[in-house]
Parts: sequence; structure tokens; C-alpha cells
Amino acid sequence: MSVNKEIKRVTTNTLQEMKQRGERISMLTAYDFSMATIVDAAGTDIILVGDSASNVMAGHETTLPITLDQMIYHASSVVRAAKRALVIVDLPFGSYQGNSKEALNSAIRIMKESGAHGVKIEGGVEISESVTRILTAGIPVMGHLGLTPQSIYKFGTYTVRAKEEAEAQKLREDAIKLQELGCFGIVLEKIPAQLAKEVAESVSIPIIGIGAGKYCDGQVLVIHDMLGLNKGFKPRFLRQYADLYTVMNDAIEKYISDVKSKDFPNEKEQY
Ligand code: KIV
Repeated sequence: MSVNKEIKRVTTNTLQEMKQRGERISMLTAYDFSMATIVDAAGTDIILVGDSASNVMAGHETTLPITLDQMIYHASSVVRAAKRALVIVDLPFGSYQGNSKEALNSAIRIMKESGAHGVKIEGGVEISESVTRILTAGIPVMGHLGLTPQSIYKFGTYTVRAKEEAEAQKLREDAIKLQELGCFGIVLEKIPAQLAKEVAESVSIPIIGIGAGKYCDGQVLVIHDMLGLNKGFKPRFLRQYADLYTVMNDAIEKYISDVKSKDFPNEKEQY
């Protein structure tokens, strides 16, 4: 891990210590160099190169189409920008479900070709063998439970998961299992806040929530959603911190108008 001398890199140990002293962990997605530079400089603890790139960068309806090569491309751009944050990369759909050897090979490609610091993988006890194999290679693994978007066609809907006791109980057991296997943290997506609280209190590794309420050890949002770039996407869990869609639209309209009116470029803006 090459680190700037003045900036201390966030590590999985840092996150563990943050949980122990009750300091909340901030996590945001980024998929390209320019955005990751801003996200990192602002002090975000973890940058997630999420497979949500499939939605927000490529315009797909689901996360399923994005490939391992595409994830590596996004991740390597983010790694070049991140001086402080821990960079975690999603194992995309189809890159780990076959068997644990395939999962390990995919994780190794991400680490070797992008320079990222760890991987995230969706699923519980059913992916134990893959998680173990990746961890054995020395690669930090983050779990992802609750609403796992790669299984959207099994769920059929993006609504809140684990409201029923059977699913909630499986989630509790999965979280314990992921901790036992050696995962350094778990993302819980779109589950009831009380269940997330129980899970966060039952494990010693950090629990990062998205739509999982205030008791998680940290929070993650998709950067395009929190900056208001995704016009019209306003689920209840999302706090929108800016309206960049409007800011960008206004700037672009002004530019077009300046070009059409021959105001741009002026004398000072030419050679
Ligand atoms: O892909 C992604 O952005 C994610 C977050 C929603 C946690 O997995």
C-alpha cells in the first residue's frame, strides 16, 4: 500500500478501533478519479467502488450486467485518487458464485490490477467457502447482508428485507458467521433499524448501514444519490446533501446560451 507520508491511511484496524470507541464510520461510493479525489480529500473513511456503477455510471437497470474488467477499471481510477480512505471493491455478479476458486481468482484480479485494499461480497453462510478462501489469501473481505441487489430477481422488489422473523434470524446468524470467518465489516442494506441495532451489538466488527437506521457503526450512501445527481431517486433512507443535477443543468444551459450568443469565448479567453 503506497501511502503519502503526511496522510495516515485508514486500515481495517482503524475501523475496528473506531467501532470500539463508538466513533461513527463514513463510507461513500466513487467510481472515477475526479469524484474519488473529492470524496477522499473531504475525509471519508471508506470509499466503496460499488457495483452500483452498473446503475449510475453505465445506466443499467440492475447491478447484474457490470463485469469484473469494468469494476477493475473503475477501481484503479479510484485507487489513484484515494490518499487516505480504505478502498473496497464489490465482487460483481458472476465473478464469485461459481465456486470458491473463481471467487479467489476474481478477488486476486481486483487486488492486483486495481491496487484496492479489499473486496465486498454479497451473501451469508452460503458463500462461506469463498469468503474463507479469499481471506486465506490475505485479502480483507467485507460482507453484505439484507437487501443484496445482485439477487433482485429472487426478491422481485427493492423493499425492506428481513421484516419477517425467519429472514431476520437468518440475517443474525449470517452476520455472526461472517465475523467468525474473519470479515472485517458488514454492510447491512435496507433492514429494520432495530434488527440492525441487534446485529451491531452482537458482533465486534463494524456494521455499516444503508437504509438500516441510526444504530449502525457507520453509514454508506451512493455518491450520486446523496449529491442529488440522480433526479427522481428519493427513497426514505436517503438524505440528499446537494442538488447537483440543478447546479449542473443550470451551468450547462448557461454555456449553451453563451456559445449560441457568441459571448463565449471572449477576447480574454482566446490566444
Ligand atoms: O454497490 C453499492 O453501491 C453498494 C452500496 C449500496 C452499499 O453495495
